[in-house]
Amino acid sequence: MHSPPGHSHRILVVDDNPPNAALLEHVLLAEGHQVAVAADGVEALDFIAEHPPDLILLDLDLPRLDGYEVCRRVKSAPATRLIPIIIITAQNAFEAKMRAWELGADDFITKPFQCLEVIARCRSLLRIKRLVDERDSAEAVVFAFARVVEAKSPYTHGHSERVASYALALAAQFGLPQDQWETLRKGALLHDIGKISVPDAILDKPQPLTPDEFEIMKQHTLQGARMVESLRSVQDAVPMIRWHHERLDGGGYPDGLFAAAIPLMVRILSVADVFDSLASERPYRGPIPHAQCLQILRRDADSGALDADLVKCFCEVVAAGLVSAVGNGSRSLRASPQRALATAGGPQPPGHDPAASPGQPDTRYGAF
Ligand SMILES: [Fe+2]
Repeated sequence: MHSPPGHSHRILVVDDNPPNAALLEHVLLAEGHQVAVAADGVEALDFIAEHPPDLILLDLDLPRLDGYEVCRRVKSAPATRLIPIIIITAQNAFEAKMRAWELGADDFITKPFQCLEVIARCRSLLRIKRLVDERDSAEAVVFAFARVVEAKSPYTHGHSERVASYALALAAQFGLPQDQWETLRKGALLHDIGKISVPDAILDKPQPLTPDEFEIMKQHTLQGARMVESLRSVQDAVPMIRWHHERLDGGGYPDGLFAAAIPLMVRILSVADVFDSLASERPYRGPIPHAQCLQILRRDADSGALDADLVKCFCEVVAAGLVSAVGNGSRSLRASPQRALATAGGPQPPGHDPAASPGQPDTRYGAF
């Protein structure tokens, strides 16, 4: 790749016609870009896999693998689908343009081309690409942050990943439209991000929380929503972060919403979250066997706290083995008198959530 000093845009020209390729290379180098040239589709895909460019100028008539197939493969691979592609076509190639458009091409340049037009179209798409990259970086930081928050406590490590897996399995079984799955996944991965605002002494407290401590714990829903609400790409996940502890009977927090006000995706997340909270070790008790977790979910559905249809569906998901394949986080983290008491069937019933006790009935599970 020819690279003038001090410029960061990398452009791949894919053209088997040497004079065309040379002219494009010359124009782009003069603009200060780094330029690589591939003479056929296979060479282009190899190059893209190894050095993903910021922009691709793509001829359609290519040896070995034509431009349509290159376009299709680039636009269908998650790692490369956001790389803009400008198709170089002959004049009056209406059908070719339409086909390339369907495959995800971003723009077209008609041969013979004007150099100024090439420059203008490249500048425009590179500007958009830069914005997309910035958004992706911000989103990556938020997700990395959520993982760090979770890793703070051995009791929550891996919780969000498991909740995301359970929620997606439930969504598929329940028939949630597939175009909503990605939003659900993001919401599940981020739902507890607000726990960064909760002191470790409360998060890992082996004894029941005091009413004041429980109030602090409850704030993680509002804090989490506030943390990500300015990030457009995860806007749709905000309701799941804010409302994943709402209950259909109005007994949840932070807003005390009732049934119809709680969106379906939030209800799905709540079932998955409660299940994993029960099935995982907590500072104050051991993990609860899956069969018993499901009994508790059914009881919460019967009492009107959780969505009965979703709980029924989730039981089917577990029966089909989809949950055990994910793992249940049930490894023992440490022996503690409190946990021994709970697992031995002492005064606290299995699954009893001490955090639920201030102002809430003992039967509330997955209270935070
Ligand atoms: Fe939570």
